[in-house]
Amino acid sequence: MTTAKRTKMLATIVFIVTGAVTMLVSPKARAQQSSFGGVVEEPFAVVLKRDKEAKPRVMAEHQRLLEARYDLSRRVDPNVTMTRGKPIPVGPTARLKGVTWEQLGKMSPDQIKEKGVFPYLPLPHVSHPVGGMIFPQAEVKALPRLERFDMDFDLPEQFLPEFPPAIFLTTRPDLGDVSKGQTVTIDNFYELFNGILNPKQLDGLRLLVTQFPQQQFNATADRKTEKPEGMRGVACFDCHVNGHTSGAAHLVGDIRPQENRRRIETPSLRGINIQRLLGSQRALRSVEDFTEFEQRAAYFDGDPVLATKKGLSILERGSQVHNMAEFQELLDFPPAPKLNLYGRLDRTKATESEIRGEDLFFGKANCAICHTAPYYTDNLMHDLKVERFFKPRMEGGMMVTAQGPIKTFPLRGIKESPPYLHDGRLLTLEDTVEFFNLILQLDLAAQEKTDLVAFLRVL
Ligand code: HEC
Ligand code: HEC
Repeated sequence: MTTAKRTKMLATIVFIVTGAVTMLVSPKARAQQSSFGGVVEEPFAVVLKRDKEAKPRVMAEHQRLLEARYDLSRRVDPNVTMTRGKPIPVGPTARLKGVTWEQLGKMSPDQIKEKGVFPYLPLPHVSHPVGGMIFPQAEVKALPRLERFDMDFDLPEQFLPEFPPAIFLTTRPDLGDVSKGQTVTIDNFYELFNGILNPKQLDGLRLLVTQFPQQQFNATADRKTEKPEGMRGVACFDCHVNGHTSGAAHLVGDIRPQENRRRIETPSLRGINIQRLLGSQRALRSVEDFTEFEQRAAYFDGDPVLATKKGLSILERGSQVHNMAEFQELLDFPPAPKLNLYGRLDRTKATESEIRGEDLFFGKANCAICHTAPYYTDNLMHDLKVERFFKPRMEGGMMVTAQGPIKTFPLRGIKESPPYLHDGRLLTLEDTVEFFNLILQLDLAAQEKTDLVAFLRVL
């Protein structure tokens, strides 16, 4: 051995010994030891303190972005309610910059882009660089284990589905809403559904209300819950509450880099049985595939390394996945008493405005080209090319840019699932009509917009 080599070896030994001694005496260094190669883990207490301190600033910054885009004051129609009585929100809520809706409707996409006056830009996550599952306040109040210490949900309660929502089963329409006004959880699912479901479906429902570890809700130091119950994970029906949606949001897992990932609002599982494309952009073909995907990939942002670290549970395809899918396939849309067997208006029951709205929907406004009756989806994806209307830029930590083709969501029962579009950027039905008036360049008159909304409300 040369002298140089010997000196180097000696130095290495000294380095290792001092390192070990430092770890023994310093609690901070000890906490940084990790079972995971290449992962530098900050001590939980340090993350907790920093994130809690930053939370008011994170929330205020995002609130400023929302306030600049929307009028968030509470305007609802007490005469039009969701199944269990929550009044639906009324808009449009988008704030216009020096133009009227009428003027905007007459401008070309290029003119709107040039003037920078497009009111419906893609919506960022509350804290886009961090992301993850985020649950509405009403839900966190009912299920405190869903509280995060780094951020709260952003949209006011009036723009969200009722909590808890009703449940309709395709197999037992005679029963109406089977939720009995309760949120189905592991504590009450048996009591509520024993005698209504078969044993396989009941087991599927049990798994849908069972918590599984997830990126922000898990037992490692890399989590965002302080409460120990949150460390057990989240259940499918935490987001898809009662098989519908609470409006809980997330970032899609399959886009990189982080700033290009889209905010994604939880879709309802009502009527999943008539749908042939699952996921706004993923186009998975079966409920079984999506069920496996959610738990294995979406829970961990498509990262199998983190999944192993935080607690991946592999569902068994032949029994568990199958049973979960079987229950999901029973979830029905809410009744629509004004629609006939073709999903069209029964004109003996409809108002003048609803009839004019249907004529527009199937005629001049072109909606039915993509939203075909009876469920108002063509089960395809379309690229609405929204980027025609704005210049790409960073906003709220998100790259506001082209987003590609998205699935045509069904419009049956649509008044019960605000906010709208995959990211929830349209807070009311009036906003969806203003949005499509621009996207499809329809130049509708004010009365025509009112009539279209009247029709959407009865679907
Ligand atoms: C953040 C809360 C959240 C949790 C928890 C969750 N989901 Fe989802 N789910 C979503 C979101 C968001 C989407 C839309 C994803 C997309 O568009 O790519 C979705 C989509 C789906 C779809 C397709 C719906 C459609 O209209 O295309 C199914 C089926 C589904 N989830 C089932 C499940 C199952 C089963 C579980 C539990 C293993 C689960 N989800 C857990 C938020 C959640
Ligand atoms: C070219 C096909 C196409 C046409 C035409 C079309 N839509 Fe859509 N619609 C879509 C797609 C795709 C989405 C989902 C877009 C997204 O999430 O970014 C959607 C979403 C919606 C939503 C929100 C659904 C939800 O669950 O969030 C409403 C409401 C809606 N459309 C109403 C209309 C109305 C009203 C018209 C006519 C004025 C219309 N659409 C015309 C394709 C179309």
